Amino acid sequence: MADEAPTDPRVALTRGADFWSTEAVGDVPSLVLTDGPHGVRRQRGDADHLGIADSEPATCFPPAVGLAQSWDRDLVEGVGVALGREARALGVDVLLGPGVNIKRDPRGGRNFEYWSEDPLVAGVLGAAWVTGVQSVGVGTSLKHFALNQAETDRMRSSSDVDERPMREIYLRAFERIVRTARPWTVMCSYNRINGVYAAENHWLLTDLLRGEWDFDGLVVSDWGAVRDRVAALGAGLDLTMPGDGGTGDASVVAALESGVLDAADLDRATAAVARLAERTAVGRAHRDDVDHDAHHRLAREVAARCVVLLKNEGGVLPLRPGARIAVIGEFAQSPRYQGGGSSHVAATRVDIPVDEIRAHAGDESVTAAQGFTTDDSGDAVALRATAAGAAADADVAVVFLGLGDTQESEGFDRPDIEVPSDQLELVAAVVAAQPRTVVVLSHGGVVRLAPFVDDVPAIVDGGLLGQAGGGALADVLFGVVTPSGRLAETVPVRLADCPSYLDFPGEHSHLRYGEGVFVGYRGFDARELPVTFSFGHGLSYTDFEYSEPTVTLDGDTVRVEVHVTNTGAVAGREVVQVYVGRTESTVVRPVRELKAFTVTPELEPTASHRVAMSFERAALAHWDVRVGRWIVEGGSWDVEIGASSRDIRLEASVTVTGDDIDLPVTWQSTLVEALADPAVAEALSSSMPDGAGGMAGSDLLTLVGSMPLDRLRNFGLASPALVDLLGDPDAV
Ligand code: BGC
Repeated sequence: MADEAPTDPRVALTRGADFWSTEAVGDVPSLVLTDGPHGVRRQRGDADHLGIADSEPATCFPPAVGLAQSWDRDLVEGVGVALGREARALGVDVLLGPGVNIKRDPRGGRNFEYWSEDPLVAGVLGAAWVTGVQSVGVGTSLKHFALNQAETDRMRSSSDVDERPMREIYLRAFERIVRTARPWTVMCSYNRINGVYAAENHWLLTDLLRGEWDFDGLVVSDWGAVRDRVAALGAGLDLTMPGDGGTGDASVVAALESGVLDAADLDRATAAVARLAERTAVGRAHRDDVDHDAHHRLAREVAARCVVLLKNEGGVLPLRPGARIAVIGEFAQSPRYQGGGSSHVAATRVDIPVDEIRAHAGDESVTAAQGFTTDDSGDAVALRATAAGAAADADVAVVFLGLGDTQESEGFDRPDIEVPSDQLELVAAVVAAQPRTVVVLSHGGVVRLAPFVDDVPAIVDGGLLGQAGGGALADVLFGVVTPSGRLAETVPVRLADCPSYLDFPGEHSHLRYGEGVFVGYRGFDARELPVTFSFGHGLSYTDFEYSEPTVTLDGDTVRVEVHVTNTGAVAGREVVQVYVGRTESTVVRPVRELKAFTVTPELEPTASHRVAMSFERAALAHWDVRVGRWIVEGGSWDVEIGASSRDIRLEASVTVTGDDIDLPVTWQSTLVEALADPAVAEALSSSMPDGAGGMAGSDLLTLVGSMPLDRLRNFGLASPALVDLLGDPDAV
């Protein structure tokens, strides 16, 4: 079989020609797909998908963990445009991103590549990224579709998840982006979903993605995800990557000939490749040069908008001109600015934080001390002592802490969320020597801050900020930029508080999503747990006052407006968040869920801005498993406007009409459910034993109201009238 030449040359279109490109067949040209997402990784020479081999220099923008902290869709779209330009300059047709999987557990190894624990943040920002990249004629690949929350056993593990969390949390960002930004490709993930591999999942790739969401692009496999090309094509996968040199083509041809594979599937897949070639033609026609200096400046401006000021007591920040500054920590000299694995970009240059601090403060004001090493190569005690000495001799200490390249990466999950112990000892020694200490954090996944949060007056969180992060951090530390970033993930007090704690990373190739919809802040709030820093939190060097809220229903759109006034002394931006919840509900639901957010323009002191946000009534829906569709509960909903999920400034409400659910009464319905249907209620009353005719509201109803009708038969209840209405009970 392997020696037989494929009879349909189009089969070659459905798999790569090599590692990064597709086959040219007929008038469909070869297309180049490459990583992504926060920079273009165009490999030269030997190819790999883990970012190990060399690649062309490209601007390393903040990875999603950092970029998300801007909460700014316009900013993200601008990054997308720049990425698209770099991609087309390097001959790339599709940039493999964005990754929009929900950060379910802080130990997830690829959390640095993902946006948020919240589907709205991931969906809105992911959509902006897609819009930006595609606006210059370069395709995107929405990944990893779907339910890919752990690196452990990622090629076999089954994400075992109920329908409600799947729809309401894990698929929601994908759905929003497919419907609103229309990515030209979607990448299926490695894992299984409720037992079925994503690459072979007909429900996922065909019924849901194309059927329900109207996706009209190409589905590509994650690199190496396909076990069976025939099964994958039949399920809705169009392109298997990387290429297998054509060795698998014969099996596809044979399956077509035997009828195992429908010819319509090959038509669909090849048409998808041809359509992608048409869509990316604009990009191929514009292989313009990139101004790397301009993109570095953009990367710096963007990174500064991603910095989160977590804490700032006693006005330690911004740093004062003329202050003597001890800059401590290995990351001040060798910054950690991106994650490891397939997204690893060869940056065009890298800003060194201590140099950038010197550029602001002057050489003579700054002393530097390494403080610790990330590879245990130095004498920790001596490094600590030198750092504490430098801190004591200065007016303020700035300590760069975080996780090194080897401590987190694609390919493995972290066992815990601790800051390394030698760094904790360092910060204790420094703060003992210098109370005016600022901690600056670099990390891809959340780290636990409880061990020192009360001891240091100021904490600045960068996440990962890309190649210009050093300059951006200096801009924020010195107040050239007023911080406006917000956490896109909760910082828990303890790992054990995390809703997914017991169900991560799973066992025996099964990962149970046991916490249901209670992911991230939804879980912390529901269980009233204290957190170190809440979802949406971030301080400024100025203050904002919220006033005059209005919440109105305009057709199916809920409009929220609020006045935001800068009441402090410096200009700044505010991220305004709208949460919605309701206490009375037919389903268990989070206390509050983010439904809208926006960033104000930069406001001068005393300036006000009327912020307008909106969301659709449909955004209030939950997935009703009884009827298998979205249902909005009618009535009043609480609307909270705030500066974080735990800093609600104003409250209002909105009343919406609900969706009808027509649940037919069956023999499995309970007595209470059955009595709600007038016809059934009448038939029932003729079935009641004597004396129980006035059952509704009686004690008897309390006793038997939850009994299904088929069980009530055991007590003699099955009148002919009821059988007429419901059919033969034994046929059920
Ligand atoms: C990753 C993808 C990446 C692909 C190509 C895979 O291992 O999961 O995110 O796009 O490799 O490098």
